[in-house]
Amino acid sequence: MQRICSIVSAAVIGLSAAPVVAAESTFEEVKITAGETLFQAECRRCHSPDADHDSYGPPLENIVGRAAGSYQDYDYSTALEASGIVWTPAALRAWMEDNDGFMPGTKMRHVGIEDRTVQDFILAYLTSITTQDNTAISK
Ligand code: HEC
Repeated sequence: MQRICSIVSAAVIGLSAAPVVAAESTFEEVKITAGETLFQAECRRCHSPDADHDSYGPPLENIVGRAAGSYQDYDYSTALEASGIVWTPAALRAWMEDNDGFMPGTKMRHVGIEDRTVQDFILAYLTSITTQDNTAISK
């Protein structure tokens, strides 16, 4: 709402929108930094953020929009491999909240991150390490 108002008033009274954009990108950067810290605490022991490094779980580089179970070099559970889901922000939230409830049979140990703000931060970080457009990629 605030953003819409700012954009509208900038357009109406002819002010530059630049300061608004700068403020937003700073907030986004703060979310990404917080998300990285949370990722280190909650996910990093099993997940590398880049595909060049091995990890116990699949690397999470380019995860947002990726088809589940599609990282070629990883031996997924049948449940994940056959799930047919795409890692949209909503699916990633459900996964962080209750992964084994969301997908019975997954071999990822239960993580129960119910706090929406914490989910937001981790999502901001996961989005920041997603540098390719996954929409054209299928499994
Ligand atoms: C104890 C180890 C462990 C922790 C901690 C962990 N994961 Fe996982 N994760 C796994 C394993 C193992 C898999 C593969 C699951 C399968 O094949 O069923 C997985 C799979 C995933 C996938 C699916 C990837 C794909 O290629 O389809 C996502 C997304 C994911 N984890 C996100 C997270 C996030 C975000 C966190 C932190 C909030 C986290 N995981 C914490 C072990 C872990």
